[in-house]
Amino acid sequence: MTSAETVERTDAFLATVPDRATEESPAEWWRTAVIYQIYPRSFADASGDGIGDLPGITARLDDLAHLGIDAIWLSPFQRSPQKDAGYDVSDYCDVDPLFGTLADFDAMLAAAHGRGIRVIVDLVPNHSSDQHEWFQQALAAAPGSRERARYMFRDGAGENGVLPPNNWESVFGGPAWTRVIEAGGTPGQWYLHLFDSSQPDFDWSNEEVREEFRRILRFWLDRGVDGFRVDVAHGLIKAEGLPDYIPPADAASMGGEEANVPYWGQEGVHDVYRDWRTILEEYAGDRALAAEAWLPTADKTALWVRSDEMHQAFNFPYLQTEWDAADLRTVIDESLRAFPGVGAPSTWVLSNHDVVRHASRLALTAENPQGHGIGPDSPGKPIPELGLRRARAATALMLALPGSAYLYQGEELGLPEVIDIPGDARQDPTWFRTNGERYGRDGCRVPIPWTADDPAYGFSPSGASWLPQPAEWAKLARTEQVGVEGSTLELYRTLLAERRARSLGAGTLEWIDGFGPDAVAFRNGNVTVIANTGSAAIALPSGTVIAASGPVADGRIPADTTVWLAQD
Ligand code: NOJ
Repeated sequence: MTSAETVERTDAFLATVPDRATEESPAEWWRTAVIYQIYPRSFADASGDGIGDLPGITARLDDLAHLGIDAIWLSPFQRSPQKDAGYDVSDYCDVDPLFGTLADFDAMLAAAHGRGIRVIVDLVPNHSSDQHEWFQQALAAAPGSRERARYMFRDGAGENGVLPPNNWESVFGGPAWTRVIEAGGTPGQWYLHLFDSSQPDFDWSNEEVREEFRRILRFWLDRGVDGFRVDVAHGLIKAEGLPDYIPPADAASMGGEEANVPYWGQEGVHDVYRDWRTILEEYAGDRALAAEAWLPTADKTALWVRSDEMHQAFNFPYLQTEWDAADLRTVIDESLRAFPGVGAPSTWVLSNHDVVRHASRLALTAENPQGHGIGPDSPGKPIPELGLRRARAATALMLALPGSAYLYQGEELGLPEVIDIPGDARQDPTWFRTNGERYGRDGCRVPIPWTADDPAYGFSPSGASWLPQPAEWAKLARTEQVGVEGSTLELYRTLLAERRARSLGAGTLEWIDGFGPDAVAFRNGNVTVIANTGSAAIALPSGTVIAASGPVADGRIPADTTVWLAQD
């Protein structure tokens, strides 16, 4: 295989693809679905410009069907100047030419549905790009105008308004306010941007903004998407009067971890999602909303999935839990208590495009605050072999849990975080806004190695890649793992197939004792799951081993290994 466009399939390969197109779609599919995140610019490039695109995704759908996932979530592909890799949208109802056309989107959607794969798309309602027509109109209009009222423009503090209106900081570092030059050429008002200065925040107290997003939801629902992943779903509403905020010293940089932040989790935000829920319910086919809301506990996150709000919320408390049995048992317990308590199932997630990949994160040897990333000068670099072993064990644990699970592209290949990206190749706004003090998120966004021997490992037919791929990735390429017993890809395939066959997503968790303090041990249906997070081996109980994240010999479960045993 030399490119995404020329992927060839053999009959033997296709015979191993689960035939979901003919299966009946279960109602409320999102309760149990395994949803695979595609980060389009890094997935597969059909055009040869070094940036992944929609035709590239279409050409790789058979590989995803072969993996055994239920749905895909696409990070933004809408029109955007790409200042934050597409999370700066300038036209919500069009495809950016980098990724293709609306016709390419329709073709991708039809091809996914034809394989029984649902598709959810990213929606970015907290902010637009500064190149959005509305923001350009706002810049040209006067203070107090209808155009400015769609965003958060305020007069500055201090003499002649030279100071920002309050002390809020951007999640990416630096101030959350930028001052504009008014029509007469003089410095004027300031606008709020919780992220980069190219991402002005909308004013969600403005009915015109609400109406516009109803239109955008309908646009994609009419095209047939199965739902939306809602970006910064805890941030749309800001506290009345925009009061100053002094974050605690240990605040995490993606924000939201701390209590009482005047721009996260304000009560009024829930009305927006109650409104959106009624729109989704106008459509047949179980469309779903998933909240990206960084909140400190499962109980707080569960507020986004009350029965009249969203369907899912990313379980970031789970993602942020260390490889420690007691901590894992606690977060699983809290999740299973909090989420069903509001009528929604729990979700589970270990990696995404904003966090250090779990094949590295689980073996870090120093503190690494969320969003800082890892680079050549970071303290406490991960130990690669340990990271991969733990990542495989952590995934095997996660995929046995009842509820819905999210996977991030490349984790099925065991990809680690890329650490040695040269400064001049880095693109995350975090890197620029902190003058290189934080490396940011590029290390988890490096394009996927599909084939071992082709340029750009088959990511792009021209060999181009928007971030450099490490030389060691040849051995992690998909072609090196498919059909290879014990490979990470085959482990994922086994876990997903057994999870489906045994309906673990719809199951019930029952803790079991007797394996010591370092074990996370439970039953889900007729499957016993034991994860060994400690350094000493644990005796393997009776049963048939149906999946194991690492070699299991002599009746023992080694350190950093998870085993599934069937009792049938
Ligand atoms: C969360 C997204 O996942 C992240 O990638 C983005 O930078 C911010 N929201 C801003 O949209």
